[in-house]
Amino acid sequence: MVEVYELWAAILSLIVVKLCHWIYQWRNPKSNGKLPPGSMGFPIIGETFEFMKLHDAIHLPAFVKKKVLRHGPLFRTSLFGGKVIISTDIGVNMEIAKTNNIPGMPKSLKRLFGENNLFVNLETHKHARSLTNQFLGSQGLKLRMIQDIDLLSRTHMEEGARNGSLDIKETSSKIIVECLAKKVLGDMEPEAAKELTLCWTYFPREWFRFSWNVPGTGAYRMVKAKNRMMKVLKETILKKRALGEEFGEVFKIIFGEMDGGADTISVEKAIDYIFTLFVIANETTPGVLAATIKLISNNPKVMQELKREHEGIVRGKIEKEEKADLTWEDYKSMTFTHMVITESLRITSTAPTVLRIIDREYQFGDYTIPAGWIFMGYPYVHFNPEKYEDPSVFNPWRWKGKDLSVNVSKTFLPFGSGSRLCVGAEFVKLQMAIFIHHLSRYRWSMKTETTVLRRFILMLPSGSDVQISYDTEEDSSVGY
Ligand code: HEM
Repeated sequence: MVEVYELWAAILSLIVVKLCHWIYQWRNPKSNGKLPPGSMGFPIIGETFEFMKLHDAIHLPAFVKKKVLRHGPLFRTSLFGGKVIISTDIGVNMEIAKTNNIPGMPKSLKRLFGENNLFVNLETHKHARSLTNQFLGSQGLKLRMIQDIDLLSRTHMEEGARNGSLDIKETSSKIIVECLAKKVLGDMEPEAAKELTLCWTYFPREWFRFSWNVPGTGAYRMVKAKNRMMKVLKETILKKRALGEEFGEVFKIIFGEMDGGADTISVEKAIDYIFTLFVIANETTPGVLAATIKLISNNPKVMQELKREHEGIVRGKIEKEEKADLTWEDYKSMTFTHMVITESLRITSTAPTVLRIIDREYQFGDYTIPAGWIFMGYPYVHFNPEKYEDPSVFNPWRWKGKDLSVNVSKTFLPFGSGSRLCVGAEFVKLQMAIFIHHLSRYRWSMKTETTVLRRFILMLPSGSDVQISYDTEEDSSVGY
C-alpha cells in the first residue's frame, strides 16, 4: 500500500518538476546574449489579452505605452502563442525592415495565405512585387485605374445621395473588389461578380487571432471563406478560358507569360496571388478611409477647405469645357486632400508597420534578438512631439509645403519600409483622394456616435454611415 502511494507521489512530483521547468523555460527563453527586457506572461496565452484590448484608433495602445515606460523602446513579450519583440525605436525598425525579408505573420495568416504564396515565398516575392507594380504602380494607375475608380466612386456616391445615406467602409470595399476584379478578370458575368462580392460577407473580420483551426473559431471561418472565394475565382477563369473570352490586364500579363513559355505562375498560384491582394486591400483601405472621413467630419475647417478645393477643380473643368472624368493632373492638383490623407495615415498608424520573422541573430546595443522571433515595429515616431507638434491633434496643415509623394521616411512610415514596403500605397492614396473628391461635392455628415477603434486592426463598431444629400448650390454641376 505504501509502495503505491510512494509511486503516485513520485509521478506527481515528476509532473510538478516538469511543469515548473516548462514554465521557467517559457518565462526565460533561450538566447545567446541578453534578451530585451519584458515579460512572457502566462504560458501559451502570453500577454495576448492585454495586447488585444480595444483602444481609440488615433492613440497608441496602452499596452505598448506602458511597456515603453517600464522597459524602454525595445522589449519582449509573447502573443498568440509566439515569442515577440516589440520595437518603437525608428533606427531598429528601419534596420530590420532593410535587412530582413521574411514577412511576420501569425500561423492563422500563414494558413490563410499559404506557404507557397507568391508574396510569402522568398523565391517568388520579387516577381510578385514587380507584377503588382505593373498595374498598381503610378504608371498603371495613371494610364488605366484612375478612370475606373473615378467612375465607381461617382456612381456609388450618386446612389448614396439618392438614398440619403452611404456606408463608407462598405462602399470603399465594393469599389476595391469591383476595381481589382475588373483589372484581373476583365468583364465578369453579373452572377460571378455578385458571388465574389458576397464572399466578403463570409470573410470574418477577426482574422488576426489564435491560429487553431477548430470549427467555430475565426481561423476556421477564414479558411472556409478563402476556399469559397478561390472556387468562384477558379470557375470564372476556367470558364473564360474555355470560351476564349478576354481577361483583365493582370491575367493577360500572367497568361501571356505562360503562353510565351515562361510559365512562371500556375493558374492556382495566380488565383492565390489575386486572393492575397483582395484580402490585404479589403482589410486595410476601407477602415483607414472610414477613419479619415470621421476625422474630417470632426473638423469643420478641414471639411470646408476640402469643399473649396474640390469645387474649384469642378469649376475649372466646367470653365475649360473639359470632360467630367478626373485626370491624373486633377488628382495631382488636390494639394490639401493629399495633406489630409498624409495626416490621417500618420495619426491612424497605431499598429506595427514593420512585421517580420527574425531570420538571424541581431545585436542592438546590449540586447540580442534571437532568430525565429516575431518582430513588430511600431511607428512611434509619428507621435513624437519633437517631430510633430501636438502629435495627437489631427492637423493637415502641418504638411503644408512638404513633399507628399514620399511614402517612407525616418519620421513617416505608415506603409512599412524596406523590401516589404506596401505595394498598394499609391493605389490607396488614389482611391482615398477620389473618394474624398466626390464626397466633398455633396452635403454630408458622419453620425456623431461613430467611433473608430483598434484591436490590432481598425474597427468601427457602430458602423461608418454618413448622411449624404445633393448640395443645391452645386446641382448645376451635376454630371461633373
Ligand atoms: C491604408 C491602406 C494600407 C495600409 C496602411 C497598408 C500598410 C501596409 C504595411 C504596413 C505593410 C507591411 C510593410 C512591412 O512589413 O514593412 C504592407 C504590405 C503590403 N501591402 Fe499594404 N497597406 C494598405 C493597403 C494596401 C492595398 C490596397 C494593397 C493592394 C491592393 C496592399 C498590398 C500590400 C502587399 C501585397 C503587401 C506585402 C508586400 C510584400 O510583402 O512585399 N496594401 N501594407
